[in-house]
Amino acid sequence: MPTAEVCAAAARIVHDVTENGRSLEAAATSHLPEDHPNRRSEVREIAWGGVRWWFRYHRMLSEKLHRPIRRRDRILESLIICGLYQLDHLKEPDYAVTSGTVDAASLLGAPKAKGLVNAVLRARLRDGEARTMNEEAALAMPEWLLNLIRDTWPDDWRDILTVANCKPPMTLRVNPLKMSRDDYLQLLQDHGIAASACDLSPWGVILETPVNVGELHGFETGTVSVQDAAAQMTPLICEPPEGARALDACAAPGGKTTHLLEHFPQLASLTALDLPDRCETIRENLSRLALTAKVLAADLFQLDTWWDGTPFDLILLDAPCSGTGVIRRHPDIRHHRRADDIARYSERQKQMLNHLWELLAPNGQMVYVTCSILTQENDRPVRDLCAKHPDAQLQKPQLAGAIKTDCGIQFLPGTAQDGLYYASIRKA
Ligand SMILES: C[S@@+](CC[C@H](N)C(=O)[O-])C[C@H]1O[C@@H](n2cnc3c(N)ncnc32)[C@H](O)[C@@H]1O
Repeated sequence: MPTAEVCAAAARIVHDVTENGRSLEAAATSHLPEDHPNRRSEVREIAWGGVRWWFRYHRMLSEKLHRPIRRRDRILESLIICGLYQLDHLKEPDYAVTSGTVDAASLLGAPKAKGLVNAVLRARLRDGEARTMNEEAALAMPEWLLNLIRDTWPDDWRDILTVANCKPPMTLRVNPLKMSRDDYLQLLQDHGIAASACDLSPWGVILETPVNVGELHGFETGTVSVQDAAAQMTPLICEPPEGARALDACAAPGGKTTHLLEHFPQLASLTALDLPDRCETIRENLSRLALTAKVLAADLFQLDTWWDGTPFDLILLDAPCSGTGVIRRHPDIRHHRRADDIARYSERQKQMLNHLWELLAPNGQMVYVTCSILTQENDRPVRDLCAKHPDAQLQKPQLAGAIKTDCGIQFLPGTAQDGLYYASIRKA
């Protein structure tokens, strides 16, 4: 049952994300109740749902309320949105949701607003959703982002946005150095965890219901990692020769670094580079999986701080991006990105690719990856690289489940995978 404390904590998280620009994880760290695992998961469920569906309910409230909620009372809007989310998406009794939400107004310092909160939730129960809600508003996305995704994917945008509003599956990657996927599936079954082999990745396992990693047999000892299916494609695209020197230029937290090491024992070395405050997560993952890489804490642009001058045979650039392919995993992306961010990401991606090209050996391979579904961040930086470097030859990877683009391949976000882009460029 959602108590007033639970509803108030969820509202604080939603408010922190939507009004104060904090990330969902950071806001949750501040407001999740500490010693109550059940209450924590209730708050999480409601807060994540409130952030996910915020644009839809915000639109509905602006149509319903005679006067907009004052800026300094905006936390009440977050509270009401958390209440509406529970009524529409959770199986709690209506009376419990209503009374928990109404009482939470006092905990948030606004006891006088209890009448308003009560009236809005009761009207929702009585009248259903506003008839004027059009399809686009119902998809709960900021308008600029919806338009951009619709322009980029005119045939797929509805499916993409529908998936963005779903809860993501928990997908595992089985480490073949430790166990086969079939054996791990058997192990899960023996432990009463329902799971199936994933079609896209030969190492992927999709759990029917997400669990705590602590409950996963072999997680601590490196038998499995948590990684989305489309993110598991790196070893199918990289082709390092025997004795290759490899660079993972944006490596943290090490998902793709460790995957490369699990598959390419023939590498002479793998350098995993990331900014200083991100490197600890790479070390932790390497240590859990008992794998070895040279972890370098540096800015990839500052060559004199980290590069010894010897070129690499394989460079993986999993570049910082808008994250438009992983909105279902990070529902706060829709609140934090702005339209002009996309051009900035694109520019940075071009700079990174062009800069790293100079470190690639002749006949070396550059693999470019993003978790974006936008051309500006995908084909465009790759095309820019090829235009500037006559020795850059596009290779067209072909993988089942991916759409071919002009310069690479795109996995669109679907029920079983996130949206990722891959391109491979060979140096003549
Ligand atoms: C998409 S994430 C990488 C995810 C990682 N490849 C994985 O699979 O686990 C992008 C990374 O780029 C790093 N990054 C951003 N700017 C950088 C720079 N100038 N030099 C090095 N790393 C950078 C970020 O810190 C972030 O960890």
